[in-house]
Amino acid sequence: MITTPKGTAPTVQSDVQSGPSRRGPRTGLEVRLAARPDGLPALDDFEIAEVAVPDPAPGQVLVRNLFMSLDPGMLTLMTGDPGMPMPRYEIGEAMYGDAVGEVVASADPSLGEGDLVVHRMGWREYALAPAGAFRRVDKDAYPSPSTHLSFGLVAYVGLMAVAGLRPGDTVFVSSAAGATGSMAGQIARLKGAGRVIGSAGSPGKVAHLTGKLGFDAAFDYHDGPVVDRLREAAPDGIDVYFDNVGGEQLRAAIEVMNAHGRIAVCGALARQGTGRPDDGPGDLFTVLGKRLTIRGFTLGDHLDRAAEFGPQFRAWLRDGAIVHEETVIDGLAEAPRALLDMVGGAYLGKPVVRLAG
Ligand SMILES: NC(=O)c1ccc[n+]([C@@H]2O[C@H](COP(=O)([O-])OP(=O)(O)OC[C@H]3O[C@@H](n4cnc5c(N)ncnc54)[C@H](OP(=O)(O)O)[C@@H]3O)[C@@H](O)[C@H]2O)c1
Repeated sequence: MITTPKGTAPTVQSDVQSGPSRRGPRTGLEVRLAARPDGLPALDDFEIAEVAVPDPAPGQVLVRNLFMSLDPGMLTLMTGDPGMPMPRYEIGEAMYGDAVGEVVASADPSLGEGDLVVHRMGWREYALAPAGAFRRVDKDAYPSPSTHLSFGLVAYVGLMAVAGLRPGDTVFVSSAAGATGSMAGQIARLKGAGRVIGSAGSPGKVAHLTGKLGFDAAFDYHDGPVVDRLREAAPDGIDVYFDNVGGEQLRAAIEVMNAHGRIAVCGALARQGTGRPDDGPGDLFTVLGKRLTIRGFTLGDHLDRAAEFGPQFRAWLRDGAIVHEETVIDGLAEAPRALLDMVGGAYLGKPVVRLAG
């Protein structure tokens, strides 16, 4: 196993045997967890390996991945935090995550060569699995297959199914320039919110929110107490908080919330972005006094909403009613660095890694 010095990019290790024992004509790269980080990962917690890619056995399908998603939840799967509602990454094994790819060989009648599929075997150039692991999607749904990795559905579920958004609500979204937040703010507006407020981590992102994305107000969460900035942006209080962060921003939202306000807890960037435990929502007496609802959710519990969201999302994109921003990073070898850069605030919208095509 090749180890790399702290902070340098992982080099490629080859598991491909040469000569007569070589298993197949194709090889591909995969990224594995090399060591379990304590807090924020470093580059040498990842390992890149070249592996042989066999032909599919009966019932299996081979997919060449085109794009994979980067998501802060992957940092939590690396640390193995038991709070995560999905299996942690294991040392020495390929990591996993959302990906979209093209079927290159199929030994199952349900999928054919050339089909476009989404699945959970990102972090590798080729995915080989039983056909049931893949879901065929419409090739013509979006101009780029990467849009199938959008977190628009996460935002929609959080607003509509979890927070119960009502026309006229004032909505606050944290990490609002990110993949989920940028969708949440715009979808809130499209679904009738009266006022939409966002927070982000730099003046450039704040300008992006009130400019291109059409938020009514935005602030940099580094600019003094968040509760003061939020009160200025929402003088009449907030009704819905789409929480990507936790910590100080959650405490501020509880303070500024109107009676019967609803909080959809989507993410934990205060923890994921620092590698340290979050210091929590504080004294919950205010929650009682205002009769607030705080509800965590995972997309997996609401996949039935995809059928109603898909046509709306495509229509909003077609009509220019929503901006779906992506940052594209090229090559699997760049993905570990990009994951760390993402949580460091480097990107706007949804970061995706282009693996082929
Ligand atoms: N519940 C679900 O089913 C579900 C599904 C998908 C994602 N999620 C979660 O939702 C959250 C957002 O995901 P995403 O993919 O849309 O990420 P994102 O918002 O695009 O995340 C990257 C951003 O995190 C921000 N950040 C880092 N540390 C921060 C901190 N301490 N406070 C505030 N912002 C910080 C950085 O932006 P700044 O420059 O603004 O700091 C960075 O741009 C994550 O926690 C993710 O795990 C949940």
